Order: sequence, then C-alpha cells, then structure tokens
Amino acid sequence: MSLRKEAVPSIKPGSAGPAEVETDLLVVTVTKGNELSELASRVDVAMEGALREHLSSTTPLGGRGKFEGKAGQAAILPTFGRIAARAVMVVGLGEAEKVDAEAVRRAAGVAAGASTGYQSVTLDIGGGIEGAGRAAAEGFRLGAYSFDRYLTDKPRQSEQVTVVGASEQDVNRAEVYCDATAWARDLVNEPPSDRGPQVVVDRATERAEAGNLKVEVFDEAAMADLGMNGILTVGKGSDSPPRLLVVTYQPEGAVASLGLVGKGITFDSGGLSIKTSEGMETMKMDCSGGAAVLAAVTALPALAPKVKVVAAVALAENMSSGKAVKPGDVIRHYGGHTSEVLNTDAEGRLVLADALAWMAEKEPDAMVDVATLTGAMMVALGPRVAGVMANNQNLCSELLDASATSGEPLWAMPLVDDYRKMIDSPVADVKNISGTRFGGAIVAALFLKDFVGETAWAHLDIAGPAWVDKPDHYLSAGASGYGTRLLLDWITSRAG
Ligand code: BES
Ligand code: MN
Ligand code: ZN
Repeated sequence: MSLRKEAVPSIKPGSAGPAEVETDLLVVTVTKGNELSELASRVDVAMEGALREHLSSTTPLGGRGKFEGKAGQAAILPTFGRIAARAVMVVGLGEAEKVDAEAVRRAAGVAAGASTGYQSVTLDIGGGIEGAGRAAAEGFRLGAYSFDRYLTDKPRQSEQVTVVGASEQDVNRAEVYCDATAWARDLVNEPPSDRGPQVVVDRATERAEAGNLKVEVFDEAAMADLGMNGILTVGKGSDSPPRLLVVTYQPEGAVASLGLVGKGITFDSGGLSIKTSEGMETMKMDCSGGAAVLAAVTALPALAPKVKVVAAVALAENMSSGKAVKPGDVIRHYGGHTSEVLNTDAEGRLVLADALAWMAEKEPDAMVDVATLTGAMMVALGPRVAGVMANNQNLCSELLDASATSGEPLWAMPLVDDYRKMIDSPVADVKNISGTRFGGAIVAALFLKDFVGETAWAHLDIAGPAWVDKPDHYLSAGASGYGTRLLLDWITSRAG
C-alpha cells in the first residue's frame, strides 16, 4: 500500500479586480469594527452597499453574537448577480494595527474551512501586507487539509483557488511548504498499526527518491554493529523492529552543513511503565518530530538552498512485552555513554541519545532535534507553543526568527546546568528520569545534552503543538506538521 495523496485544491496567482472576477466565492477581509479593506469596499460599492449592510446585521458562521471583524470570524452573502462572483465571503483579520502575514495566513485558513462546497474560490485578502500572497496561499492549503483516507463521506474540496496579488514564486513556495506539511500530517495521522518503523522508512524513501536524495537505512543488525543500543532497547518490546533512517541533501557548493534529528516513536504505549488508556489515545503522534524532519529534508530539492542537510530519525515502537526493556536496565549508547532506565515511558531521550551522538560525530555546523519529548513541556507552554533549549545562543535566536516567519510559535526555555545532578545515576552515566515532576522538559533536554558533545545544538520539544484537538484557522484536527515550515525557514536562512 502506498500513501495516496489527499485531494488538494490547485492554487494559482491572479490579478482580476474584485468586482469583475468570475468565481463561485470571492473572499475579502475586514478588520475589527468592520473596517472594510479597500477591496471589500470596492465590492461593497459594486453591490450598492449590500455588503456593509449585511455585515452590520449578521452573525459569524458557526459563532455567536455579532460579526465585528474579529480574527476567525467569517460571513458569506450571495451576490445575486450584482458582481461577477456568485457569493462573497468576508473574513475578519482582527485589529488593524496588528495585521501581519500570520493574520493573513489565519484568515485564509478560516476561508478554507468555511468554503467547502464552492468549486472555485478567489482570495483577495492581502492588501499591502508584506508576504501576504504567500501567506494567503499557505493558509488556504493548510486549512483545506483533512485526513480523510478512512472516511466514507469525504469533505468536499474547492478545485480551483486563486490568490489575487500573489506572484508565481509566492504560490510555488507555499505549495512546497504545504506539500511537505501535509505529508508530515498524513504520516502522523495514519493509524499506528499501519505505519511502524519500516513503513515510515518506505514512505520517506519514496519521497526522498523523488528528489534524488541519498537514503540510508540501519536495521537491527546494522544498529547492533554500531552500538545503537538506545534505539534497539526501546524497540525490543515490539513486533515491528526499530530502524535508524538517514536522508541526506547535498547540493553542489554548499555554504553550510546542518544536522536534523527526529524522534520517531511510531507509537508510545509507555512500555512496562505503561500509560493510561487516555494517555495513549494520541500517542501515534509520537513520531511527529521525525515526520517534520523528514518532510523538511525531502522538500529541499524543490527549494535548492546551498546547504548540506543530514536528517536522522530514530524509529521505534515503545511496547510492553516479555522482551521489553525493564526499569533498572542499563543501556550503552552509541559513542559509549551509558544510561539507567528507570521509567520506560521516558523513551524519547533514549533513542535520541544514539541519533544525536551519531550526528555530532559528523560535525555539522549546527544540529537541531525535534521531538514530542515531554508532557511537562505542555504543562509549561500549553498546547500551541513549542519550547527550544540550546547550548548555543545564536542558533537559538535563528530558530526563534524562523518561528516568527513560519508562524509556528516557539519559546526559549533555560538549560539549567544546576539541574543536571537531578539525573545522576549510581550505576550509569545518567538516568532517564529525575524522580520529581518539576522541570521535566528541562531535565529531558539536559539528558540529551550529554550526547551532543561540542556541537552547536538546539532541542525543540513539540509535545504541545504537534497535535491539534480542536481545529482552528489553518490548523486542522489531528497532526499539525509543526516544525516542517520552521525548519525550512531556518535552513533556507542559513543559505545566505
Ligand atoms: N511521548 C511522551 C511525551 C508526550 C506526552 C508527548 C504527551 C505529547 C503529549 C514521552 O515519551 C513521555 O511519555 N514522557 C514522559 C516522561 C516522564 C516519564 C519523565 C512524560 O512526559 O510523562
Ligand atoms: Mn513515553
Ligand atoms: Zn514518547
């Protein structure tokens, strides 16, 4: 079975004026207080004031109260032939002073969610904001995503989407970023029994080979030879054996070399330190970091930055069985450091330790790992914001900048050296839990730090934003693909 590409709307740049454009649905914007954008005013004039009048008395779609142009609000009105478009959707952008590319991206996502059933949609929502063309195309594509492979009645998709004011390049770049994000979302949304470690390898290999990237797969025997015992140990309770997958993008004349490392736990039951039933409900998402890393590296041929990127994903299923790792076991990781396993549910750091040590040995200029590592990160930052912890300030700032442009929220957390003693072990170099609930995300990052040596390194704990419970703007329910676009912005910024 190969992953079928979900039906996606095809997005094109366009230029027609708002009153003349022939489309099923024309999307325009207002800011808070129902201030019409210039384009919305032109539609209003062409409709003899009907747009303004409708807004003053309508309720937002799926909402309560009045339509006031708040971010997230949308309203649709028929045009009855007064302009070429069959219907107009007005989307709120929120406060006028705060409108930026992310506001446009979100408005486009709202439009995508509210426009199912309209075959052709024209977005005229960017007016004057930098990067708006690309943001609108991105927001619509991301917002139109749904994982419908197993649905009998599939949601209807718009077939033709035109973004007025976007350039060919804007739309192409949005397409590359969103294809990659959708690929990551699909991989994570897939039922975990349908995509164990080897299946992830197959899916990623298919996408990597389409871009002529180098793929290396380390199976159990190869990992045993190398001493990748963190990955082997976490994977040994499962009937679907672990893998280390390495994908390399190496352009000619590269000006930098970067390493990406991903946590690819295809399902996290907790192992013998078993989770609750509820705790397991979303644990197919524990490969989200790996999915983002793979989605990003395989998008690079289309963007062609002059940067070498090596992506390594540690793939294992964390299960309990007669063969599973036990509390008290000691692992000798790749490179020779040892760890004591006291909780088999703190498995992410065990697999990442091998992959980070392996990557550090390649001496990249910088490396970033992406992982759904700790529930503690969610306690600290909530469901939408990822944490970054780094041993290098410049790298940390670069990632925060990338987050600002990609619209994937990220916050810097401290790597508190004083906490390192909380994971001293009497029998090994480090233990995998501290024994207190406090500072869990930092402690996990400090564990990883033992394995990165002198390499400039940053750790993204994406436990919160990797998964979306309740859909919002361009975030559809389920896997978010968080990190894919951020990594692409970071990598391309390194190309100079
Ligand atoms: N994959 C989980 C972390 C997680 C939890 C991600 C909830 C997303 C949502 C990780 O492997 C884990 O189980 N971490 C434990 C660590 C603890 C045993 C020190 C946790 O956070 O409870
Ligand atoms: Mn776990
Ligand atoms: Zn996990």
